[in-house]
Amino acid sequence: MAGEFGTSFMPQMTISTYDNGWSDMQTVNADKISVHPGAHVLHYASTCFEGLKAFAHKDGSINIFRMDKNIERLRQSSELLYLPPLDLSLTEKMITTIVDQYRNEVPAPPASMYIRPTHIGTEPAIGKAADPSATALLYILLSPVGDYFSGGEASLRLLLDDVGVRCGPDHGMVKAGGNYASALKHIMRARKEHNAHQVLFCPNGDIQETGAANFLLVDNQSVITKPLDDSFLHGVTRESILTLARDKGLKVEERDFGIEELLDRCSQPDAEAGLAGTAAVLAAVTTLIYKGKEYQVGQGAPGPRIREMRAELNAIQWGEVEDTRNWLHTV
Ligand SMILES: Cc1ncc(COP(=O)(O)O)c(C=O)c1O
Repeated sequence: MAGEFGTSFMPQMTISTYDNGWSDMQTVNADKISVHPGAHVLHYASTCFEGLKAFAHKDGSINIFRMDKNIERLRQSSELLYLPPLDLSLTEKMITTIVDQYRNEVPAPPASMYIRPTHIGTEPAIGKAADPSATALLYILLSPVGDYFSGGEASLRLLLDDVGVRCGPDHGMVKAGGNYASALKHIMRARKEHNAHQVLFCPNGDIQETGAANFLLVDNQSVITKPLDDSFLHGVTRESILTLARDKGLKVEERDFGIEELLDRCSQPDAEAGLAGTAAVLAAVTTLIYKGKEYQVGQGAPGPRIREMRAELNAIQWGEVEDTRNWLHTV
């Protein structure tokens, strides 16, 4: 598991091609794929993907967290990008087959096996700028990953960007490669000019999400986060954390909120803020930067509720408590 998150890969992957229907799944070497230089994906970004994790439990079982949710999101992303319709049971079989093949390589918690299903439009047709690809490729890459913050605790600095947009406003819910490409210029500027870790996109003051995680505002009564709409990615971690929050008696408010309210709430001593996502789980945000000024969130250090909810989610993923909600799929 040497190197940065997501840079080491298992040597094989499962793959299926679409041409008027999906081919039988194959297991092939994961070091290359062959596509025509005119492939639709390379020109018109017909690509979407997923990110989920498999965990090794002490009893030797391998368990994938909320796989059904990620497959459903990939189905939806594929549909919204006019990629060929996903075959849900084939996709599930491709995921479980390759995870099973590498079950002995799934590292013990806090590490895990990151699973990256990828769907690309392969038709060699550079005239199809305004038409979908007729052919496609689906493959499932595996990458063993460690703790995203290398054992340390996150203390993230976010730049509030009320001008830049991450992607097309009706496209945020699609996990499309192009969305990440379009967010990059804002993220790079935030890093260079403000030494921020991430951008919290809030076009016209509407608090949405960062480049790779959902944003939650927490205090001792409630969790506040944006309600589901087309503008941002509907995170599986977000939904899982909201479920845990409700079950522990916190009030969950899925509603729009703006920068003024955010800064106001963050000035309270019991305020906490976090980023929820598969890679980072639930990471504490401790500083917000807006119009050149820095604002400390609560005490300016990771707070107890974010820590507790992260630990609760990890305990389920790692098999340390009973999976009462059926979130794990045992391979
Ligand atoms: C833009 C964006 N928002 C939110 C998330 C969180 O989604 P999930 O919890 O399903 O990983 C991700 C992916 O991790 C993402 O890329």
